[in-house]
Amino acid sequence: MQQLIRGRVLDFHADPAETTDNHRYWENGAILVQDGRILAVGDHADLAREGLEEIDHRPHLILPGFIDPHIHFPQLQVVASWGAQLLDWLNTYTFPAEAEFADPDHAARMAGLFLDQLTAHGTTTAVAFCSSHKASADALFTAAHARNMAMSAGKVMMDRNAIPAVQDTAQSSYDDSRALIAAWHGKGRQRYAITPRFAITSTPEQLAAAGALAAEHPDCHIQTHLSENLDEIAYTLSLYPQARDYLDIYESHGLLSPRLLLGHSIHLEPREIARMAETGSRAVFCPTSNLFLGSGLFDADGLRAAGIVSGIATDVGGGTSWSMLQTLNEGYKVLQMRGQKLHPLAAFHWATRGNALALGLEAEIGTLTPGSAADLVVLDPRATPAMALRAERATTLAEELFILQIMGDDRAVAQTYVAGQAMKAGGR
Ligand code: GUN
Ligand code: ZN
Repeated sequence: MQQLIRGRVLDFHADPAETTDNHRYWENGAILVQDGRILAVGDHADLAREGLEEIDHRPHLILPGFIDPHIHFPQLQVVASWGAQLLDWLNTYTFPAEAEFADPDHAARMAGLFLDQLTAHGTTTAVAFCSSHKASADALFTAAHARNMAMSAGKVMMDRNAIPAVQDTAQSSYDDSRALIAAWHGKGRQRYAITPRFAITSTPEQLAAAGALAAEHPDCHIQTHLSENLDEIAYTLSLYPQARDYLDIYESHGLLSPRLLLGHSIHLEPREIARMAETGSRAVFCPTSNLFLGSGLFDADGLRAAGIVSGIATDVGGGTSWSMLQTLNEGYKVLQMRGQKLHPLAAFHWATRGNALALGLEAEIGTLTPGSAADLVVLDPRATPAMALRAERATTLAEELFILQIMGDDRAVAQTYVAGQAMKAGGR
């Protein structure tokens, strides 16, 4: 069955930070959807026909659904935990919360709530860290698969420097990851992400196991954390005294590749930047988290100039908002502090096609190109009285987008479609 989703339609085919020919916009547009895929996009007049089911979202904007390339599933109740920087925050709040995900019932309940929050905020794909328990990853994949929602996720590998309830071993983390890959990688829209948490919580034996998994499954993502916090870096280097720098720890275990997503990547040495560029490894900017945990200011322009592809992500629960709009808002401010600019077109490109490129999934998600999944977000730039008041003075698309970028949150998400299915109230 086909349906026509109508509104003001926008997507990107290039990065506005690099070129002026970067987006397509149909003021009176529509997207033709069949079996969860986009069949066509264009002017409503060219796509409408007698008898076709039509959903009219005018005057709202319709974009590809947001992609969140770094989020922690078992931290949905950790958001807004007071007063600590990274290492204290992990020990005080995060590891105890993650310990509860050993319980499959808790994990299953949280998985549904996690996906509900993502789609309420317009996010249709995420790359998620689960807890160290296999059950947490099974729960998330089961829930995402039932919703036909594209997820990349993995159980964290962590065999030291944490409470026993969240520790695995090098061997068990290898075995559990392998079993999860066999069960879920490539099943429907699910993908596996090999997930060594970070060097502090992995022995060299465990990073070697992660490297073996990466070699055995080269199309899996690999996700970890890099150079987020100065105390973290010092402690990491003390644990790996032979390493040239933090990145070298991951490099020497065979983890660098275009599939590698390096969360935070803030305090980098020139050699690290050069090696990330040479190996195609991705950086992921997590602005609300970096501000909340006092971690530091990401250098978006510097990494782009070096040839590194970056994503932008919430990092819930170090991050304080599920909203990619709020993430773009805080990203704008972080870059202001660096003397850099995040133009609204570049911002919306980043949260959609840019993040898809960072994941290597641009043929499937992130644009409205026919053949892509019908993962869509419907945005209302006048969602609140304050936004409507501001919008009275907006005369261009870029100004409207900037209102969404700075003032928007889940209230501005009028609808979210996952593989053609409406996910917000009334839709499911
Ligand atoms: N580094 C290692 N684990 C984590 C985590 O859960 N959150 C953040 N922000 N940084 C980390
Ligand atoms: Zn993280």
